[in-house]
Amino acid sequence: MRRLGSLSLRQRLILGVAVLGAGALLVALLAIVIAQTSAADEQPLAFSHKTHAQNGIQCQFCHTGVAKGPVAGIPSVEKCMGCHTYIATDSPEIQKLQGYWERQEPIPWKRVNVQPSYVYFNHSSHIAAGVSCGSCHGAVAEMDVVEPVVNMNMGFCLDCHAEQENKDALWDCTVCHR
Ligand code: HEC
Ligand code: HEC
Ligand code: HEC
Ligand code: HEC
Ligand code: HEC
Repeated sequence: MRRLGSLSLRQRLILGVAVLGAGALLVALLAIVIAQTSAADEQPLAFSHKTHAQNGIQCQFCHTGVAKGPVAGIPSVEKCMGCHTYIATDSPEIQKLQGYWERQEPIPWKRVNVQPSYVYFNHSSHIAAGVSCGSCHGAVAEMDVVEPVVNMNMGFCLDCHAEQENKDALWDCTVCHR
């Protein structure tokens, strides 16, 4: 094989383009693999919002903080066990749940929606104003795995604030950046 130094300029260019192309392909493939292994495989337990909604369990039964303050809150293992001491106890996923309970370990759920720390957000003021969970989270009751449906960037927040009567107050930078 010839050494790189003995290649003509044209050959070096072709080689360069080929290497770049292979790199780009690798990045694209990696992106696809990462996208497919998101949320579903990441959650420690196969908890389905759809199943629980179909059984008539309300959002606020589990997310008890949502109407009271900034944070909606994720239910504790104890809350799950309130039902799963009796319900579906022979399911392998419920046995996993019982393992957390016996070890008194919290379930390490992966966060789905995260705002940067310089953004102030408060659930309760939105719930009090009658904004539904779905406007920001999509149809969670139909999801087996919660995925972010809308990109909650600044434009998204401002678009809805623009439709409110007190638009000017709600567009003030210090409302969300305190
Ligand atoms: C039986 C309890 C339970 C009920 C009922 C429930 N949830 Fe959840 N919710 C959870 C648990 C546990 C998680 C964390 C695991 C996950 O993300 O799936 C969660 C996560 C979420 C998340 C993602 C949180 C994040 O990390 O950003 C959203 C959004 C959400 N729930 C909305 C809803 C809505 C809307 C409803 C009603 C339609 C609802 N939930 C009903 C237990 C519940
Ligand atoms: C108010 C009662 C209630 C609470 C609280 C509750 N569940 Fe459930 N869960 C149910 C019912 C009802 C089903 C459906 C059972 C069936 O169809 O056999 C279910 C099904 C499940 C299943 C599927 C079981 C299977 O068939 O393999 C899992 C996993 C599960 N729940 C996890 C959780 C977790 C984790 C929590 C806490 C975040 C939780 N549940 C809280 C009532 C509850
Ligand atoms: C106006 C938009 C909006 C509405 C309406 C909304 N959420 Fe959220 N939700 C968010 C944002 C933004 C975050 C991320 C907050 C953060 O990272 O600090 C979030 C995070 C969450 C989380 C995970 C973090 C936490 O606070 O515990 C849960 C669970 C959740 N929402 C449930 C709900 C439920 C249930 C409802 C309806 C009762 C609801 N949300 C309504 C925007 C909204
Ligand atoms: C679908 C409509 C809608 C969306 C989307 C929305 N908001 Fe709001 N927001 C409202 C309404 C309605 C109010 C209450 C107005 C009032 O009570 O005067 C409000 C009030 C607020 C307030 C002032 C009240 C308080 O809690 O201090 C803040 C801060 C806020 N929103 C932040 C956000 C952020 C951050 C986002 C994006 C992640 C967002 N909002 C997305 C409708 C929305
Ligand atoms: C209704 C809530 C809200 C208001 C009002 C608001 N912002 Fe933001 N801002 C956000 C959110 C949410 C983000 C972070 C999410 C994103 O955009 O990616 C953000 C991000 C930013 C960033 C970082 C952008 C970046 O790309 O890193 C800057 C800078 C900023 N805002 C400036 C402002 C200024 C200046 C104002 C007043 C003219 C303002 N914001 C008003 C919600 C708001």
